[in-house]
Amino acid sequence: AHIQWYPGHMAKAKKEVQSQLNAVDIVLEIRDARIPMASKNPMLDEIIKNKRHMIVLNKKDLADPVQTKAWVEALSNENTQAIAIDSKKLSDMKIFRQALKDFTQDIQDKWQKKGLLHKSIRIMVIGIPNVGKSTFINQFTKHKKAQVGNKPGVTKGQQWIKIDKDFELLDTPGILWPKFDDQEVGDKLALTGGIKDTHYYKDDIALFGLELMLHYYPDAIAKNYPIAAEEVTPPYPELLMKLTKNMGLLEDYDRAADRIIRDFREGKLGRMTLDRIEELSLYTDDDAKT
Ligand code: G4P
Repeated sequence: AHIQWYPGHMAKAKKEVQSQLNAVDIVLEIRDARIPMASKNPMLDEIIKNKRHMIVLNKKDLADPVQTKAWVEALSNENTQAIAIDSKKLSDMKIFRQALKDFTQDIQDKWQKKGLLHKSIRIMVIGIPNVGKSTFINQFTKHKKAQVGNKPGVTKGQQWIKIDKDFELLDTPGILWPKFDDQEVGDKLALTGGIKDTHYYKDDIALFGLELMLHYYPDAIAKNYPIAAEEVTPPYPELLMKLTKNMGLLEDYDRAADRIIRDFREGKLGRMTLDRIEELSLYTDDDAKT
């Protein structure tokens, strides 16, 4: 779903998430594994404060596995556990479920000691649009029924879904905004599909994609499009023109740009990660270890 963010909407989203936080034990922050930094809400730490938190790098199937492995390590610390999954895959959900259980075992142990034997850990999903929050919730709660009845700390219209004896999940995710003030973040969100197509020029995004591919996945273009490897060089506008012509699209650069963007999003050009672990030190992000 596309959301146009204005200051009023951001304040409202923040308030909504914060009001639900009281009722949850752990926050699952969903990000896109192809852009572990660009798909983060810039105020997340401030919003969730010291609430227990798991980072789910979703769409693992589309991301570079070597990069993903390194990102999972870099984003994990004593308080935060990162995990990469493909939400469309049932076997990944099983792995996730076990990781969640391990990560929250101490909460269960604490409750057990207090004699709270039938308490379930309450989970809430949050993240920016299009990272796969709904897909994740649907898959994680497959065949489970929402619990009826009122419970404190739940916004009207929301329900807890009982996963099993250990976990309950809020059925609607908290939706937060992406970082806007950075052109590169915007370009990465557009290329991966995190921002809807009416908000940018296709050829700009295709050129951005070509440049990134040439840099990090230099073989991908000649491998997937009718062009010789030695012709895959900057300047990028010329490269797009050549590709357009070779694709048989004459001078329809928009259509060629569309095709490149779509192929990238669907993973047809290979599994690619745009936020690079080797550039970790460039992200002045407090959740990334240096
Ligand atoms: P949101 O609630 O965070 O806004 O995201 P949503 O679940 O709607 O997912 C956004 C898009 O990402 C959907 O594709 C969804 O199928 C896809 N997606 C979610 N998780 C994964 C994953 O782990 N791997 C892959 N490859 N894709 C994932 P769409 O094109 O908008 O719709 P459709 O293709 O499902 O029809």
